[in-house]
Amino acid sequence: MIQKYITLLFIFQLLIEINCQYVQKQREGHTATFIDNKLYILGGLSPNNVGKDFFYFDFSVPFNTQNLLLRDLSNINTVPSHFGAGSARGGVNNDTLFLCGEVGNTATATIVYKFNVQSNSWNTPITTGIKPTLYDASIGTIDHNGKMYFWEGIGSIIAILDTKNLIWEERSSIGAPNIGLKSAATLLPDNKIIYMDSSVDNLTQVYLYDTINDNWSTKTTSGTVPPKKLGASAVLGLDGQRVIVYGGTTDPLNSLYELNLLNFEWRIPKTSGKTPASRTSHRANVVGKYMVVSFGLGYNQSDENDILLLDISNNDEYIWTNEYDPTPTISPLSTMPFHKSSSNISITGAIVGSLIVCALIILLLYLWNKNSCRNNKARNNTSLNNQGISGSPNIEIHNHGREAEPLDNEIVHNHGRETIELPVYNHGRE
Ligand SMILES: *[C@@H]1O[C@H](CO)[C@@H](O)[C@H](O)[C@H]1NC(C)=O
Ligand SMILES: *[C@@H]1O[C@H](CO)[C@@H](O)[C@H](O)[C@H]1NC(C)=O
Ligand SMILES: *[C@@H]1O[C@H](CO)[C@@H](O)[C@H](O)[C@H]1NC(C)=O
Ligand SMILES: *[C@@H]1O[C@H](CO)[C@@H](O)[C@H](O)[C@H]1NC(C)=O
Repeated sequence: MIQKYITLLFIFQLLIEINCQYVQKQREGHTATFIDNKLYILGGLSPNNVGKDFFYFDFSVPFNTQNLLLRDLSNINTVPSHFGAGSARGGVNNDTLFLCGEVGNTATATIVYKFNVQSNSWNTPITTGIKPTLYDASIGTIDHNGKMYFWEGIGSIIAILDTKNLIWEERSSIGAPNIGLKSAATLLPDNKIIYMDSSVDNLTQVYLYDTINDNWSTKTTSGTVPPKKLGASAVLGLDGQRVIVYGGTTDPLNSLYELNLLNFEWRIPKTSGKTPASRTSHRANVVGKYMVVSFGLGYNQSDENDILLLDISNNDEYIWTNEYDPTPTISPLSTMPFHKSSSNISITGAIVGSLIVCALIILLLYLWNKNSCRNNKARNNTSLNNQGISGSPNIEIHNHGREAEPLDNEIVHNHGRETIELPVYNHGRE
């Protein structure tokens, strides 16, 4: 019984924490790392200092990008304010967030940070090998063996961080192309990394680095070749046969290009939905059937959401959408054996029954909480704690966003949608 109450309390706290919406600071050069259905956002440069901002978006549940809910982890962040770092999911169990870059004022060489998503803690692991100097670690690309490759276009080595053994390795850069900073790169199914040079007039040529055989090749492309792309992103399409390049400078009207990996022909993919303003120095991750673009430069936060979703499941037509739908998974119930004894059925009935009751309670809590969020927003500067509700030990929600605005501005109508501008200040637990 006590356990049930504890569980309910826990769910209740969770709702309190995640069901209020917050306005984030716009940022560029941040990292976005997807681990266990969470997209972790860290660092970046902003007109205001992003400081220790560290939070995630939960992709295990449906959401609308106009009502983004973030889970703030800033209070457990020990990584100094930085931008242009590289990040990846790696480590022995492939469940650790690795961050590399010249982070902090005193850094003369690249520092590695790792975040344990189970214990929610950061540490700086001891690495062996020669620490490289990285000017733009954001190009770091991880392979299927947990090795992160950093080729920035300059210097005599390609730096490699083995995230499993915490060793810095190096390979000769002979034969490597002189790509510019803020070039785009992504790993292909054949263990090659494709690089899109940001320093040239157009992407007629792309470069492939074979991570297994340690050699480079150049591919000359055809089709609708994109112009110079500085600060663009590149992701692999869902079928592994195309690279989707998004954003970057010089071509704001066509933000989306796609390179066919079978014949190296470029095209502008057909899309439906409202095309967002092009962005640079954003991040793009593939989550389920979506390309998820986070933050970046080039959009106005009062018109567009910080997260963009492009449904890339249909190669004939991609869809810009605000609705995130978690990839459907096979329900465990459907895989249950066909024959069940009557007692099993009644147990199942009991479980289903209590699940329904739980769901109702959660729904009620949710509705109640939604109202309390509204009230909180109305009562500007009112701490959630003043209502006797405290956050869980390590996780608090803060709004690091804008200054408070007068009450009259609380609801701003933007092209028909309702945006609540007023932040909620949670001054943390006592
Ligand atoms: C780690 O997980 C990602 C995502 O599932 C996968 O693409 C990658 O290949 C994995 N890496 C290793 C070293 O197993
Ligand atoms: C691409 O840029 C190169 C070098 O500036 C130029 O010679 C070539 O004509 C350009 N190609 C296209 C398709 O724009
Ligand atoms: C890279 O090395 C592999 C194995 O030695 C070889 O088969 C392949 O042709 C090489 N590719 C290039 C572009 O040199
Ligand atoms: C962003 O949009 C709002 C409302 O459309 C406008 O008032 C504001 O000036 C814009 N900001 C910038 C930087 O363009």
